[in-house]
Amino acid sequence: MCGIVGAVAQRDIVGVLTEGLRRLEYRGYDSCGVAVLQHGAPRRVRSIERVANLAEQVEDARLSGTIGVAHTRWATHGAPITDNAHPIFSRDEIALVHNGIIENHEPLRDELKALGYAFESDTDTEVIAHLIHHTREEDASRDLLTAVQRALQRLRGAYAIAVFAKSEPDRVIGARAGSPLVVGMGERGNYLASDAMALSGTAEHFIFLEEGDIAVLSCNGVHIVDRDGATAHREVQAQHANHYATELGPYRHYMQKEIFEQPDVVADATERVRSITPALFGAKAQRAFSEIDSLLLLACGTSYYSALTAKYWFESIAGIPTQVEIASEYRYRESVVNPCAMVVVVSQSGETADTLAALKHAQEIGHHHTLAICNVPHSSMMRLTELHYSTGAGPEIGVASTKAFTTQLVALFVLALTLGKERGRVSTDDEAHALRQLHHLPAALNSVLALEPQIVAWAQALARKDHALFLGRGVHYPIALEGALKLKEISYVHAEAYPAGELKHGPLAIVTNEMPVITIAPNDTLLEKLKSNMQEVRARGGQLYVLADAGTKIESSDGVRVIQLPGHYGPLSPILHVVPLQLLAYHTACVRGTDVDKPRNLAKSVTVE
Ligand code: F6R
Repeated sequence: MCGIVGAVAQRDIVGVLTEGLRRLEYRGYDSCGVAVLQHGAPRRVRSIERVANLAEQVEDARLSGTIGVAHTRWATHGAPITDNAHPIFSRDEIALVHNGIIENHEPLRDELKALGYAFESDTDTEVIAHLIHHTREEDASRDLLTAVQRALQRLRGAYAIAVFAKSEPDRVIGARAGSPLVVGMGERGNYLASDAMALSGTAEHFIFLEEGDIAVLSCNGVHIVDRDGATAHREVQAQHANHYATELGPYRHYMQKEIFEQPDVVADATERVRSITPALFGAKAQRAFSEIDSLLLLACGTSYYSALTAKYWFESIAGIPTQVEIASEYRYRESVVNPCAMVVVVSQSGETADTLAALKHAQEIGHHHTLAICNVPHSSMMRLTELHYSTGAGPEIGVASTKAFTTQLVALFVLALTLGKERGRVSTDDEAHALRQLHHLPAALNSVLALEPQIVAWAQALARKDHALFLGRGVHYPIALEGALKLKEISYVHAEAYPAGELKHGPLAIVTNEMPVITIAPNDTLLEKLKSNMQEVRARGGQLYVLADAGTKIESSDGVRVIQLPGHYGPLSPILHVVPLQLLAYHTACVRGTDVDKPRNLAKSVTVE
């Protein structure tokens, strides 16, 4: 989703801006642009192609300057055409980039048109640029900060912006409300970005702006004011060394790299769990856990499926009633509040607009206890919740979530054990056994990754199909859902997942000898039931692709292809079974030649509703 970079320095900042955009590419975008103040006037270059192409155009245009803003745009208001690409100018005085959606842009647009402003784009962003321009014109001091403060008061919606004015050539202003923005401080300049990763190598220290903050950046320093206009002192954080490189290395795609990183990230995630204790979730966890009687998990997409998987663990291991809800549904429905339910938000980015809004909604209607399980430590969700657990998967660049999912599952499993122990349902022996299983997971994941050549063969067949069904039962049903989501989002093969027992209630009607049916077959208590469901598929000619645990006695035969996994891994089995499904989606997409890391129409961090 949209990405922002801003810079003010004692040197030419064009390279910082384009490199920052390159690092934000993973968020997904359909146009991009850079504007700098050059020879006393704002100049910009915009492109509806990739950032690499923009960088070439920038070079051809000999763009240079010491202050500037840049943007990758994921279209919401207005098609992805050059005129709608940011930076947006107002009367060649103001240059602005924006992430988010302005809900009241229509009345503001009418008002500004009546004041004589000509609109050159279909974007909601142009309203902000003109509003700042107009507010500044009206003010005798013509101070950009005052104009930004006043203009922002009139906006409804979510935004992060970066802006500069022709007549104030020494500063760039950033502001956030609902969309992330970080200030980076370096030796020779100060910077803004949607994500600290965009500034890695450029800035050494970071300030993660709070809701309503406005930051004024000059070469000499950073001044922050809060939503009431008072000077704010925010914590300055050193750049976190991250040993998961953001470079591709020997891999063809980030998704492939991130799938293969899973043994390492899971090793890191389990290594820090030496014993099961509430302290893993923060200082206030002990008390909070003693005050709750149920869980309400809120999430979107892949994170929703990890939450759905964990529901089985919470109820079976901890005996705690658990509800899981899609954040975009929960936030708009009238729900019955149980103040003793802990709200758990699960998110890779910690910035997903729907999950964030669902969390705020839950807090407003009376949920006191909240926990965020996130991969980005300083994200909005981590800062808004009482308790936090950082999944520690490192940067996830591929739009399709993989290692973030498996590490979320580890975190949720640890939460289930913790709540089970607190509620007297997990004995010391159970704890020791579960910890052994957790610590052995990386080795088990490696043995599943070794199945890749067999999965490539399946992918060749699947790539020729238009549809696929995924089946699972029990705790593996959400894994089937995740497998179907992975396949459709990156290979564009239409896929649906069902609990295997549900097949005969409708979907069996679409099973023919053209239909691949990918079946998750763990060696658990539901195995015999699942085998019956597989018979139902075969009887209609359906082509079974079975991921079977050792010991299930499911053999390859006519219309039945089997890949054998290691022996059943108990409650953690979903973490192993999802990996072949990730690889299957990945290789199917490769055979079909899609843009694996940047699938069409999708964005990494969905910061708009
Ligand atoms: C799918 C995928 C998305 C995200 C969803 C939520 O592969 O990545 O479905 O899971 O957009 O994002 P986060 O986890 O950042 O809240």
